[in-house]
Amino acid sequence: MKFSTALLALVSAGAAVAQNVSDPFESFASLISDWATENQWNGTAGSHNLPVLLVPSAVTNSSAAANSPVEVHFGTGYFEVLTTYAAGDSVLKNTSVAINVPIWGRAELLAPLDIPLNLSKSIPVAIPGVVNGTIGFSAAEAQVLMNWDLDTPFAGNLNEAGISVFPQQIYTHFTASQLKAARNWTSQELAQLAGPRPPFSFPVIRNATAEDALLEQFLTAFTVDSANGTVAVQTLAANSAYNIDVSFLGIITLTGSIDPSSLSCSLTLYVNIPLAGRVSLAKITGSLITGVTAQISVVLVTGTANLNAKLGSSGKHDLYINAGLSITFIGSWNTPGEFKIMTLPF
Ligand SMILES: *[C@@H]1O[C@H](CO)[C@@H](O)[C@H](O)[C@H]1NC(C)=O
Ligand SMILES: *[C@@H]1O[C@H](CO)[C@@H](O)[C@H](O)[C@H]1NC(C)=O
Ligand SMILES: *[C@@H]1O[C@H](CO)[C@@H](O)[C@H](O)[C@H]1NC(C)=O
Ligand SMILES: *[C@@H]1O[C@H](CO)[C@@H](O)[C@H](O)[C@H]1NC(C)=O
Ligand SMILES: *[C@@H]1O[C@H](CO)[C@@H](O)[C@H](O)[C@H]1NC(C)=O
Ligand SMILES: *[C@@H]1O[C@H](CO)[C@@H](O)[C@H](O)[C@H]1NC(C)=O
Ligand SMILES: *[C@@H]1O[C@H](CO)[C@@H](O)[C@H](O)[C@H]1NC(C)=O
Ligand SMILES: *[C@@H]1O[C@H](CO)[C@@H](O)[C@H](O)[C@H]1NC(C)=O
Ligand SMILES: *[C@@H]1O[C@H](CO)[C@@H](O)[C@H](O)[C@H]1NC(C)=O
Repeated sequence: MKFSTALLALVSAGAAVAQNVSDPFESFASLISDWATENQWNGTAGSHNLPVLLVPSAVTNSSAAANSPVEVHFGTGYFEVLTTYAAGDSVLKNTSVAINVPIWGRAELLAPLDIPLNLSKSIPVAIPGVVNGTIGFSAAEAQVLMNWDLDTPFAGNLNEAGISVFPQQIYTHFTASQLKAARNWTSQELAQLAGPRPPFSFPVIRNATAEDALLEQFLTAFTVDSANGTVAVQTLAANSAYNIDVSFLGIITLTGSIDPSSLSCSLTLYVNIPLAGRVSLAKITGSLITGVTAQISVVLVTGTANLNAKLGSSGKHDLYINAGLSITFIGSWNTPGEFKIMTLPF
């Protein structure tokens, strides 16, 4: 079972380059990796292969009260969940669930809803024609548990009887002593929490399970250059319209169309932020021959991005990007100079 695919792509992209923190690409990957390590939480119930990325934040600025409500944002497996919870509540308030579908990104499975934790039946969810099944939440041993049973085209059946996703005594400042309130930690576990964190990495895809093999097949079918972590879904329609959805450098996605004869484009640039999802940065329209520059100023991200195409030695055009972004929570991020995304089929 994989962790959030956005993160998976991200860290494998980071691993593809030299281990040198002065490289902006590499330093970005280590920033994300540190951030993910800081916010990783393992409960006591459920699949041991599934760490939970947990980011609790205060709903109000009066965080003093032990039972003040906390906005809980977590990712586990393919899922991302946003909810509001106060210690002792029997309801997960305003809970929404999204699933990360490899390549296509994030899709909503459950629109914001109040979910009683005593619900014995799971909630039916579906993305028609893509995903169907159930999701549920419960409470046990002072923890909130999530379960799912979903059929997907990219990983077959995903089934989890109940994994702990956060402690019922949850606080915005998530320290070892606060964790202790959720369950009785062994002194060895506490020593581990207090000491330096173990290095955080994602397992490479192996054909260990049928699910791994399916995911690998799925990714291989669309991978343009796996060494560079670039994944593209491209179609050339009968009227020769070229449509693309390409993800590269771990966090960037470009989707839209390019006219093969004039190389004029109409594309949208996105950044994939763990737990925030695909954030639209800019609509980029114009000629790729002269190059198009977009100013980016959206919630979470500011910066600029330039796209252009140059005729390569293969007689086809190579698509390049040069971007410099400043991302809230993550810091500044630049493409390593002018970065070749891929060779276009024309
Ligand atoms: C990282 O790159 C810099 C400059 O290119 C170089 O001086 C330094 O030795 C490198 N560090 C490592 C650990 O490779
Ligand atoms: C969480 O569980 C995973 C898998 O068992 C393990 O590799 C990781 O070190 C654990 N993390 C913590 C913080 O205990
Ligand atoms: C905290 O909340 C109170 C009451 O809503 C408000 O007056 C105050 O400005 C807030 N303080 C901060 C630092 O946001
Ligand atoms: C419920 O959650 C959504 C986002 O998931 C948010 O936009 C909305 O403001 C929330 N409503 C309440 C009452 O907190
Ligand atoms: C579950 O909790 C809700 C909210 O506290 C309550 O209204 C409902 O009666 C409970 N249902 C059962 C079966 O206990
Ligand atoms: C998904 O739908 C199919 C067809 O209705 C059904 O056979 C299958 O059991 C459903 N999957 C899950 C996990 O509920
Ligand atoms: C923790 O230990 C105390 C005292 O030994 C016990 O009363 C309590 O039930 C334990 N809590 C959990 C969650 O196991
Ligand atoms: C996994 O299985 C697929 C299909 O059977 C195969 O093409 C691929 O090479 C295998 N990958 C590894 C790493 O063994
Ligand atoms: C992948 O990266 C290598 C090294 O930076 C570069 O030489 C190669 O052209 C890239 N491939 C593509 C398709 O961009």
